[in-house]
Amino acid sequence: MQELLLIPGPTPVSDDVLDAMSKPVISHTSVEFANLLKETLSYVKDLFGTKNGFPFVITGSGTLGMEMAITNILGEKDNLLVLSHGYFGDRFEELAKHLGIEVDKIKANPGEHVDLELLRKTLKEKHYTAVTLTHVDTSTGVLADVETVSKILQEVSPETLFIVDGVCATGGVKEEFDNWKIDVILTGSQKALATPPGLTLLTFSKRAIEKRNSIKPRTYYGDILKWIPVMEDGTKYFATPSVNLFFSLHQSLKDIFDMGLENYFKKHEDLARRVRNAMNELGLKLVAKRPAPTLSVFLYPEGIDDKTFRGRLKDHGVVIANTLAELYGKGFRIGHMGSITKDELLVAVSKIAETFEELGVKVSKGNVINAFLS
Ligand SMILES: Cc1ncc(COP(=O)(O)O)c(C=O)c1O
Repeated sequence: MQELLLIPGPTPVSDDVLDAMSKPVISHTSVEFANLLKETLSYVKDLFGTKNGFPFVITGSGTLGMEMAITNILGEKDNLLVLSHGYFGDRFEELAKHLGIEVDKIKANPGEHVDLELLRKTLKEKHYTAVTLTHVDTSTGVLADVETVSKILQEVSPETLFIVDGVCATGGVKEEFDNWKIDVILTGSQKALATPPGLTLLTFSKRAIEKRNSIKPRTYYGDILKWIPVMEDGTKYFATPSVNLFFSLHQSLKDIFDMGLENYFKKHEDLARRVRNAMNELGLKLVAKRPAPTLSVFLYPEGIDDKTFRGRLKDHGVVIANTLAELYGKGFRIGHMGSITKDELLVAVSKIAETFEELGVKVSKGNVINAFLS
């Protein structure tokens, strides 16, 4: 039985994307590869909403993208303010500390948002080289208000560079790199972009590249100055890209843009609404006050053991994820992004209802299905 993979990344990959990946390997410095890269980078710019930013696609996971953002703009004398809505926001703090960078953090309670007045006050009291914000924190399902944070930065500390992690957002929700005055945005291939894991997509602003030029970066593979010539001309070599993953990303982006990016966002909103209506019918509580369209994080009703619930659901062919950090064991995370269809999610919600019923929760499966379909 083919399992229905509904963890919040990696997400299922459509057949044409898989087929693209199984094409014969070509030279990573061939004209064919260079053309494919050029088209891919043009899609990346549209995806992030930029005309002026400089796009990159690099072999490595989302964490490499986070590390490239930090190491290319924070030198020895620089400092960082992390805005965290959960586990992945916290990762920026861990990463910066690991590199010996001075870091402060404003953290929201699970499901809530960082206090914007506190952000304003913090930025007035101390100068930061950069601020990080995770557009969708995959641990809590919180959708950050990137635009409002950007406005506060412009108002209080316009010289501070703005880094946005779009790993669980890009493609599933609008991102406006130019309008929101973002300096570095990064994402991964394996979530709303419905491509196998292993690629990170980034865009740097002009001033972020200038900042890189003024520091000694604590990275070699991730140094954007090594990659800029390759992104400008794919026949140049710095380090061998995972050619076949690039085939699959290109195919997936082509599919998304053929459908229309706005339609793709709408599909995510629609699926999120349906899943939440169905889970609401089951009496489940959503963690996020402002939930993302890409995934939902729900708390269990009293008396449900996480491992038992997810284990039984897996026996029914549906794989979802556990909650993380402070929420560990208290709920589950379900992805509704990428190439997932309404029909697949309908199967998933009815299996979830059945599993709760097996575990003694009073459930009307019919009502759950109707709530999903309405
Ligand atoms: C919001 C967010 N940022 C960063 C990462 C790290 O990405 P990766 O696991 O691809 O290194 C993840 C992974 O799930 C994520 O959800």
